[in-house]
Amino acid sequence: MTTEQEVFLRAFHASHPAVTARAMSRGRAADGRSSYAILRDRMAGRDRVLDLACGDGLLLELLAEAGEGQGSGGRGRELAGLDLSAEELALARRRPGVGRADLRVGRAQQLPFQDGQFDGCVSHMALMLMSDAEQVAAELARVLEPGGVLAAVLGGGPGGDEAYERFLRLARPLFDAAPAAKRIPLLGDRRLRSREGFDEVFGPAGFGLAEWETVAIDLTGSPEQVWETVSGIYDLGLFGAGATAELRARFEAESATTALPDGRIPCAMRVHIATVRRG
Ligand SMILES: C[S@@+](CC[C@H](N)C(=O)[O-])C[C@H]1O[C@@H](n2cnc3c(N)ncnc32)[C@H](O)[C@@H]1O
Repeated sequence: MTTEQEVFLRAFHASHPAVTARAMSRGRAADGRSSYAILRDRMAGRDRVLDLACGDGLLLELLAEAGEGQGSGGRGRELAGLDLSAEELALARRRPGVGRADLRVGRAQQLPFQDGQFDGCVSHMALMLMSDAEQVAAELARVLEPGGVLAAVLGGGPGGDEAYERFLRLARPLFDAAPAAKRIPLLGDRRLRSREGFDEVFGPAGFGLAEWETVAIDLTGSPEQVWETVSGIYDLGLFGAGATAELRARFEAESATTALPDGRIPCAMRVHIATVRRG
């Protein structure tokens, strides 16, 4: 059953396809990798990989590149991607190496794949947005073979970052003033933002305990890049063009006081990386 949250997410991604990849692909952890590359590396040696809520296919492209020469007969690894948004998948189809992947519009709560079809699954910045988390975990346990690995990047919530806090402080009055019917619905399950909550959902579905890491992703960039990053995770359409332009001007004016000598604005995002094995 499609939820109110899914209706919102579908409409948001229809009007802002590739929003997450644009905001996060330039981000780097302390070891120099993007959060997408970290998940790619967790799938080393895995031949049949699903990207759950794959968005515009950036991670699938990295997985295709890294899996060249792998899989049966060295034809490359088998990849599949699923997302609620047909608009996101249309972008994914155009990426190098992703055209061959099995891309489906669908819901994580009802996966259109066979039992044990995959030996790996990745999910970047999506699991924590999903409702009915137990059902998602049960579906992942079903489509992964025993020993299969799930690696997920999960939003860590406000991480004490100045740029995000500045944006939220300036935007809050506008969110509060929006008509109730237009407000962004509460998304997902908070349990999937902590190790204990993650284990509470995935343990009973048949997964082992999560390996859990919290990582800061550096998103320092030009004023335009930082605005795109902090504003991109929200639907500002409900404010109207005038109010959004005013918000941006105030954000950029305040940000300018924190600029580094080269003009870039410091910005970071905290993410959790969970890796679990299907028993
Ligand atoms: C924040 S975006 C991340 C996209 C992509 N993984 C990335 O990081 O670039 C969240 C994605 O999850 C998808 N999504 C959310 N709930 C879903 C569900 N229940 N089933 C399938 N996809 C879902 C959205 O359509 C959206 O593309």
